[in-house]
Amino acid sequence: MCGIVGYIGNQQAQPILLDGLSRLEYRGYDSAGIAVMDGSAIHLMKAKGRLQNLVDRLEGSPLQGTIGIGHTRWATHGEPSDLNAHPHTDMRGSIALVHNGIIENHEQLRAELVAQGCQFVSQTDTEVIVHLLNRLYSGDMLSALRQAAAVLEGSYALCVLNIDEPDVLYCTRKDSPLVVGLSRDAQYVASDIPALLHHTREVELLEDKEIAVLRRDSAVIYDPYGRQRALKPIHVDWDVEAAEKGGYPHFMVKEIHEEPASLSKTFTAHVDTNTMTLRQDAFPFTEEEAKSLATLTIVACGTAYHAGVIGKYVIEKLARLPVTVDVASEFRYRDPIMGPGDLFLAISQSGETADTLAAMREASRLGAKVMALTNVVGSSIARLAGDNVLYTYAGPEIAVASTKAYITQIEMMVLLAVDLALKRGTIAAEEAKALLTAMTDIPDKAEALLTDCEDDIQRFSSRYFDKKHVFYIGRGLDYALAMEASLKLKEVSYIMSEAYAAGELKHGTIALIEPGTLVCALVTQAALADKTLSNVREVKSRGAKALVICTESLAERCGKEADELWTVPDAPDALLPLLAIIPVQLLAYSMAVSRGCDVDKPRNLAKSVTVE
Ligand code: F6R
Repeated sequence: MCGIVGYIGNQQAQPILLDGLSRLEYRGYDSAGIAVMDGSAIHLMKAKGRLQNLVDRLEGSPLQGTIGIGHTRWATHGEPSDLNAHPHTDMRGSIALVHNGIIENHEQLRAELVAQGCQFVSQTDTEVIVHLLNRLYSGDMLSALRQAAAVLEGSYALCVLNIDEPDVLYCTRKDSPLVVGLSRDAQYVASDIPALLHHTREVELLEDKEIAVLRRDSAVIYDPYGRQRALKPIHVDWDVEAAEKGGYPHFMVKEIHEEPASLSKTFTAHVDTNTMTLRQDAFPFTEEEAKSLATLTIVACGTAYHAGVIGKYVIEKLARLPVTVDVASEFRYRDPIMGPGDLFLAISQSGETADTLAAMREASRLGAKVMALTNVVGSSIARLAGDNVLYTYAGPEIAVASTKAYITQIEMMVLLAVDLALKRGTIAAEEAKALLTAMTDIPDKAEALLTDCEDDIQRFSSRYFDKKHVFYIGRGLDYALAMEASLKLKEVSYIMSEAYAAGELKHGTIALIEPGTLVCALVTQAALADKTLSNVREVKSRGAKALVICTESLAERCGKEADELWTVPDAPDALLPLLAIIPVQLLAYSMAVSRGCDVDKPRNLAKSVTVE
């Protein structure tokens, strides 16, 4: 949600902090601020609105100092305003901090602190932390942070400056990500790796309640019991350019164009392409375990949830294992029935989504085998899954709307289905090999599709961008894909949109169809094509305009019903979502651009949802 950066080194901190914040702005962006320390004082500057407002304010009077912290805020407690923006300071201005997360007992703490004479200037939960630290500090910030951790309930990632220690930067976290970037003569902190990549690739992941004490030439980490622990940095090999626009007007379209490469990378990480078999160690089950599974529950949020829905169709079909898919915020509170013998899979691009993390904890508590599928090595969800973690290799995804991470999630659903099916003996080795072989063609087909369809989609958007609502319909895998198509359109173009199982439309929703309503039908599953096409006829006879997206081999049949027809290359049924998703993602993008929307940073949204 919010973004944090911190720096201590020999260069001026302000430009480094602002650069880091610009790379994190996608996480949350209703206000921003920095604090820089110069030995005698902590200097602050904050501004409501986009980072540029802060940059403008600093232009005439830059903050001097070689140690500092910065923050982009996505409001949870208190409206977006200069006062509520971080950093926050204690009353003397001697401690300053930035915070991600939510302090759940902030009301009680605020009342106690006010009773002790603290004067609050903001409506934020964060301000209680800085006053609390002031009360607990008596010359030892490490101890104050440790005592604060015992009092604070909720989640936090914190970076702290203390005027008494002009050469030290403190940071700590609980249930909210924070990484330390290490180098010889400077140390960096950020809530997300892309903010560090320009400076270092050696990254230390802080565990819950650990405290990092950073000096220019050293980083020392203390575990929750106050013991110093050895550093175990991971090397991040993400391409820096992957976190930059590289000539594209927006990250979203750049990331859609990266999908063929992301698919190839994820595939070769899991499949030995010489033998066309799954790598031995690719999936964490033995044959015996796979056979003894009673159920699989997939839990995720938003787009990742939609990947889970695709998983349900493919895994049930190939591995004959009953699959339930649930949104994490529902799962965690519905007293789920689950235990040993059940498999639980959390899907999360960021690996930091609070609801998904909580659902995983609940599944572990109930005794299920817990697995995770994520795009971020070392993320909280990856760490919670221990050895049972699967990775997508989409690279950093910067646009708020998930595209390339989603496509690799659905690719992983197919690979997981094949693994489970082979181990459970529900498909033959030859069938698996044929499917994996067909998967090797998908990146090229996706590339060709990207080149072929963009102009048609732009032309179409320029005709339809002013629609007030759009329906997506499909059956089976196409219905699962319709859900994602609809979410993508809503979030980036703000057009009201619904996804419907094509056969369900006539049970009520068809009442909304009127002359000119745009209905987008996904028709890639040959066995269901006639059924969906009859639903297309139903809406057209009530005046709807039908955009049909189908495979090349269904083009003739679909062409008779469609007002506009787009095709995708043929492939086995289970792989068609990997192709059909491309035109619908591009459609959402193109509609948003035509409507003048802020595509990469849609209103009200944040990339990584670390609050409930
Ligand atoms: C939409 C989108 C969100 C996320 C959801 C879960 O484009 O990106 O719906 O999919 O917030 O996020 P992760 O996958 O990081 O757990």
